[in-house]
Amino acid sequence: MRTAIIGLGAISETHIAAVKHGGFSTIIAVCDLKQERVDAAIEKIGGDVRGYNDYKEMIDREKPDVVHVCTPHYLHRDMAVYALEAGCDVYLEKPAAMNASQANEIVAASEKTGKKVCVSFQNRVIPTNALAKEIVDDERYGKLRGIRAEMTWSRGGAYYTESGWRGTWEKEGGGVLMNQSIHTLDLMYYLGGKVKDMEGSVALRRNKGVIEVEDTAEATIWFESGVEGIFYATNCNFKDSSVQIELFFDSATLFLYRDALYLVRGNDLEKLTDNRDYSGTEGKACWGNGHTMMMKRFYDSFEGEDVWYCDIKDAVPVLEMIEKIYSTSKNKLR
Ligand SMILES: NC(=O)c1ccc[n+]([C@@H]2O[C@H](COP(=O)([O-])OP(=O)(O)OC[C@H]3O[C@@H](n4cnc5c(N)ncnc54)[C@H](O)[C@@H]3O)[C@@H](O)[C@H]2O)c1
Repeated sequence: MRTAIIGLGAISETHIAAVKHGGFSTIIAVCDLKQERVDAAIEKIGGDVRGYNDYKEMIDREKPDVVHVCTPHYLHRDMAVYALEAGCDVYLEKPAAMNASQANEIVAASEKTGKKVCVSFQNRVIPTNALAKEIVDDERYGKLRGIRAEMTWSRGGAYYTESGWRGTWEKEGGGVLMNQSIHTLDLMYYLGGKVKDMEGSVALRRNKGVIEVEDTAEATIWFESGVEGIFYATNCNFKDSSVQIELFFDSATLFLYRDALYLVRGNDLEKLTDNRDYSGTEGKACWGNGHTMMMKRFYDSFEGEDVWYCDIKDAVPVLEMIEKIYSTSKNKLR
């Protein structure tokens, strides 16, 4: 297959390494507004790769099979829809779009063209989380009753000011919810199922005057299944802590911590699995290192294999959850 990549910043390194080393496809073209990033990517990929500064020109000329969208959030909808309408399948970085309504436009374009879109919620497929999902589904410890999820990271002013798009409503579309903890909220949805109702709040605590968007958020979530959830996320921690998720079942608790999944019974903690011993560990640990695994599933689906990947339709509910936190927050930041 022939792959093209739009956006050659931080996450593109993970995409390039995953496509190349996974042997999923051949990268035939790359695009970025910054020519130096195009040149660096071409050198890194090697072989016959063409560089572009205009994504439409790249898609029209190269007619790739798959387009990877690795650009800032506000560009996702337009780029994904353009690629779909040009007959390409799309591997789309999270969030799918700036809001659920935009993401539904991608769903509609995918349905109209018959082309697929995989959204990079790669944390769903890493071993710890895949096993947690299996345990929820097979009910070996009874029914899932409650979820506690917490993401406490650190993002300083330079992280925002150096990017030119982070920290703004116009281009990032939100803060800790839209960018960092969207993975954690998505896992709550993936494990807990459809949301019945939720109530939350947002705040800006640390980089006042530097960013407009929230850096702290919390919510109480009531799932249709009867599961109750609590969620907390902040970018104001002293340093990045491990994401923590507790899953409360009838006869045991599961605890996700530091890339491992533990079974908790009374005071006993038994490690069930961890994410250290699997291939495809490209990228920063805090991103979950699962890009290669999600990408493999997507590319395998073209071989006629009946494999699950995160379809665009399944990436919309988390955007609805985020919107609900903003709308129920008494503190309004925009
Ligand atoms: N799945 C994950 O765990 C994960 C991790 C990090 C980032 N991301 C996502 O990846 C996306 C990119 O994030 P990043 O950290 O790489 O950002 P970045 O700012 O490092 O890179 C974005 C790149 O897009 C380029 N760009 C901007 N407008 C463009 C245009 N019109 N045409 C072509 N190129 C354009 C920029 O020049 C830049 O090189 C975001 O959606 C982010 O949320 C996902």
